[in-house]
Amino acid sequence: PNTPYLRVTPSMLKRMTGRKGKDAWTVLGGRVYNITPYMPFHPGGEPELLRCAGRDGTKLFGEIHPWVNYEGMLASCLVGIYVPEEAAAA
Ligand code: HEM
Repeated sequence: PNTPYLRVTPSMLKRMTGRKGKDAWTVLGGRVYNITPYMPFHPGGEPELLRCAGRDGTKLFGEIHPWVNYEGMLASCLVGIYVPEEAAAA
């Protein structure tokens, strides 16, 4: 019933840039995804995909390909939900 999603804060997210041995995470529609496994498959290439790493990629994604069904494609890459800094401790 209540899936215990990991709560990811802005300070956690901004470390997940895909650099320095870290995975690349992004936020799309309030959900946090680990996009590292998808990297080699992105039709737009890795550098383009990495532009949304470590930050909320919702706007950028929507400007480029709003028709892409990321929820389906990245279902197995779901890390958790994006919450404000204060909410993580609550
Ligand atoms: C193309 C997925 C993020 C840039 C595509 C396509 C998919 C896809 C499925 C093919 C779309 C089609 O042919 O209709 C994703 C997913 C993303 C993501 C799942 C997020 C996790 C981004 C970001 C950028 C980007 C952040 C740029 C900042 C592009 C570009 C293409 C493309 C330029 C066109 C490639 C071409 O046709 O040559 N992406 N994308 N994508 N994507 Fe992404």
